[in-house]
Amino acid sequence: MLVWAVASQKGGVGKTTTVATLAGWLQKEKLRVLVVDTDPHASLTSYLGYEDERSEQFNLFDLYAMKDLSREGVLNCITHTAHEGLDLIAASMTLATIDRHLSGRQGVGRILARSLKLIEDCYDVVLIDCPPVLGALMVNALVASTTIIVPTQTEFLALKGLEGMVRTFTVMQRANQSVHFEYLIVPTMYDRRTKASVQSLSYLKTHYRDHIWQESIPVDVSFRESSAKRLPLPLMDETRQGAVSYHRLLKYIVEFELERHPQRVGSKLLEMLERLQYMPDQI
Ligand SMILES: Nc1ncnc2c1ncn2[C@@H]1O[C@H](COP(=O)(O)OP(=O)(O)O)[C@@H](O)[C@H]1O
Ligand SMILES: [Mg+2]
Repeated sequence: MLVWAVASQKGGVGKTTTVATLAGWLQKEKLRVLVVDTDPHASLTSYLGYEDERSEQFNLFDLYAMKDLSREGVLNCITHTAHEGLDLIAASMTLATIDRHLSGRQGVGRILARSLKLIEDCYDVVLIDCPPVLGALMVNALVASTTIIVPTQTEFLALKGLEGMVRTFTVMQRANQSVHFEYLIVPTMYDRRTKASVQSLSYLKTHYRDHIWQESIPVDVSFRESSAKRLPLPLMDETRQGAVSYHRLLKYIVEFELERHPQRVGSKLLEMLERLQYMPDQI
C-alpha cells in the first residue's frame, strides 16, 4: 500500500484538488483508494459530497480519540462513497482542537501511520489531504507517507511557502533519525501566457531539480466546475486538460514509488502501469 500525503504550509495551492483528482483517476483505474481528510475545514469531505454536520458516521476525530487502536475501530471510521472503490475518512470541525486533545499522549505523531498499517491489505493507495498548518495533523500525515506531494502554485509568493515546507522536512528529520521524507514538488495552476508563471516554474526547476515533477498542472476552470458538482474531475470529464495532466502525474508518481519502495507497490498498481505503457497520452 502506498501512502501519499499532499502537503504545503500555504493554502490555496491545489492540495485538495490534487487529492480529489488523483483519487478520481485511481478509482477509474479500478484501484482501491482511501482518502483521508485531515483539514478541519473539511473541503475534501464536501468535495466528495459529504457534510460533517449531517453525518452520523465516525470520522477522523473519532480515530484520533480511540484509546486503543484496532483494525475494526479504524474500519468503522471509513465512509464508502458513491464511487465504488473510493473510500473516505471524513474530517470534522472538531479536528481543529486535536492538538489540545492529544497533548501529553505517547507516540502522538504516529497515530495515523499505525492506523493505516492495520488496514494495509484493504487499499492500493491512501491519499491524505493536509491542513496548511504545521501541527499534529500534518505531522501524522507526513510520518505515515511513502511520498509527500507538495503542490506549489507557479507564482512567487507560493515559492516562499515551499521553502518553509522543505525546511520543516529537514528540521523534522534532524530531530528524529527514524523519519525520512521523500517529497515531490508538483507545479500547479501554471499559465504559460503569464510571465510570473513562466519565471517561477523555471526557478523551481533550477532550485529543486531532484525533487520536482518536470511537467505542470495547468490553470483549468474545470476544477471549479468539478468541485461545485461534488465530483472529482476525472469522474466528471476525463478529457479536460487538467484531468489529463493529473493522469500523467499519477503515472509518474507510481513509477517514482516503484524505484524507491518497490515492496509497497501492489500487483494492481503494477498492472495499471503496464496498461498505461501501451496507452498513448490523451493530449
Ligand atoms: N489547476 C487549477 N486550475 C484552476 N483552478 C484550480 C486549480 N487547482 C485548484 N484550483 C482552484 O483553486 C482553489 C484552491 O484549490 P485547493 O485545491 O482548494 O487548494 P488548497 O487545498 O491547497 O487550499 C480552488 O477553488 C480550486 O478549485
Ligand atoms: Mg485544502
